[in-house]
Amino acid sequence: MSTHPTFKYLDDALHCESVSLAALAAEFGTPLYVYSAERLRQNYQRVARVFAPLRPLICYAVKANANGALLALLRQQGAGFDIVSGGELHRVLRAGAEPARIVFAGVGKTEAELEMAVQAKVGWINVESQGELERLNAVAAHHRARPTVAIRLRPNVDAATHRHISTGSAAGKFGLPVSHALKLVAHSRALPHVHIRGAHIHIGSQLANPQATLQAIEVALDFIAQANARGAEIDTLDLGGGFPVPYRDDDPVPDLDTFAAPIVARLARSGLEHFHIEPGRAIVADTAALLTTVQYEKEDAGHRIVIVDAGMHTLLRPALYEAYHRVCAVAHHSDSPLTLADVAGPICESADFLARAHPLPPLASGDLLALLDVGAYGAAMASNYNSHPLPAEALVEGHRYRLIRRRQTYDDLIANEVIE
Ligand SMILES: Cc1ncc(COP(=O)(O)O)c(C=O)c1O
Repeated sequence: MSTHPTFKYLDDALHCESVSLAALAAEFGTPLYVYSAERLRQNYQRVARVFAPLRPLICYAVKANANGALLALLRQQGAGFDIVSGGELHRVLRAGAEPARIVFAGVGKTEAELEMAVQAKVGWINVESQGELERLNAVAAHHRARPTVAIRLRPNVDAATHRHISTGSAAGKFGLPVSHALKLVAHSRALPHVHIRGAHIHIGSQLANPQATLQAIEVALDFIAQANARGAEIDTLDLGGGFPVPYRDDDPVPDLDTFAAPIVARLARSGLEHFHIEPGRAIVADTAALLTTVQYEKEDAGHRIVIVDAGMHTLLRPALYEAYHRVCAVAHHSDSPLTLADVAGPICESADFLARAHPLPPLASGDLLALLDVGAYGAAMASNYNSHPLPAEALVEGHRYRLIRRRQTYDDLIANEVIE
């Protein structure tokens, strides 16, 4: 590993800020997610600085990582929140979010979730279908409310990212084509309890370059112009998230300044006044490492497999997206030869690999490994598959640290089961 912004070797022991990862593993066990509070603040401030000319409402995308301690820390930095479920609304309200700074997105909101959002007076509801707008109008009428709405567009652009995290193409399920969105704006005249004031685009995650976003922005600006020419009052563009982060030492993705510069320049001369952004990954990904303990090693005809106590139940991204995470030994030995190894978990699935052909030193049972850049879509996607308890999570701040999620117990696993 060359230098990493968050995890560094001090005297050959990997640290997060001033805390040794081996000490955290000894105290809290593994698998363990470890987050840096300082890096989380830096990332939020970097996003705020890069997009400052647009004075956007920055809504952290809770789906990337919903831990309440991280949400509270981001709220203290000034973040609003992008949520996609009643559960996420519950979490951000508990973390002290200001309702006006919440954007409720998502393709399948239930009546109960819309009800919750209207009652909580969330600032924006991003609607993705005619049925949803009509349902929201009925719910709002019942509560004598008139929520502010953005229409999510399907701009039909190719986001140049993994197909599972590309969301703006014609074949996808998200948003509405512009022609349908214009019809919906016209239809909304018959829906007095909703106020359409925004257009929303989010074309994918880990975008390789800003080109597709720039194309989607043209589609959105054209939609806004057409809708307003027909009497709509749209003054806000929600750009979504998707800003890329480097996962490899030599990752070719642009840094945030380079990615955002043409977007900010284009929007600064758009005539629009209000913007939302919904970054998730760019704020949390590189704040965290996943610590895992080596259990066994197998070798067969030169194929080295290291079996650890984390797996696809702890970190799903490699199995789901073929995602790459750097893996490093928590105790560094500079003279150790590196050989290629697969890192596999304990789950009874052939897809349960955390890394493939990754250079690793010789390892013994009990050694600790760290997978880097796991803060986004890591703990958030963890499951109880094969009846493994969810991992613990710890937050480091300087010399201090604390548990921000206790490890589940076996009793937690069965707590909601009704046997007779
Ligand atoms: C509507 C919406 N906004 C924001 C995000 C956050 O994306 P990212 O974590 O890539 O910034 C997502 C991710 O799927 C999304 O669907």
